[in-house]
Amino acid sequence: MRQIIFATHNKHKTEEIQQLVKDKIEIVSLDSLGERKDIPETGDTLKENARQKAAYVYEKYGKDCFADDTGLEVDALGGRPGVYSARYAGEKCSFDDNIDKLLDELEGKTNRKARFRTVICLIENGKEKYFEGECNGVITTERYGKKGFGYDPVFIPDDHGESFAEMSGEDKNKISHRGIATRKLINYLLKK
Ligand code: IMP
Repeated sequence: MRQIIFATHNKHKTEEIQQLVKDKIEIVSLDSLGERKDIPETGDTLKENARQKAAYVYEKYGKDCFADDTGLEVDALGGRPGVYSARYAGEKCSFDDNIDKLLDELEGKTNRKARFRTVICLIENGKEKYFEGECNGVITTERYGKKGFGYDPVFIPDDHGESFAEMSGEDKNKISHRGIATRKLINYLLKK
């Protein structure tokens, strides 16, 4: 079976992607390689960050790998937090801190439109290839649900009556930014 390294330390994301690839491709996590270091992520765009992470792992391990970067783009905030979604409320902040800051900044705003966007960079035999996915929705005024991670409790995808944090992982994967981008990646890999 083909092996590909997924350049992330995020367990939630590895689990989500594993559900999508099932037994078609073996996804090798950084933790299973014993790689504990935080991978540099200093770009100004999702694409730059995805490339930076994939390139770091490719150069170190010399094996095909991919990395993703995701941002939540909120219309009323001019696209913020975007590429800074993880550190929105400051370095070392929690998911809850980020949600609190987002709800504060959106207090009283009627335009609650937002989207998650994911960019995946695959490096295969030294060549880069990109896959993107997005999911449009609205930011709620309070938290709903306990599942998922990040901004899931305050994001309701369009045409759905519940937040990402109220959905099963499987249902979220069907419509999520990362699910869409990942299926594009998998289709590409399986066609070869
Ligand atoms: P990353 O690039 O995938 O690490 O995502 C950056 C940040 O965006 C994360 O720390 C989360 O706060 C947020 N995020 C990414 N994906 C999701 C998601 O599927 N649901 C909710 N928040 C997410």
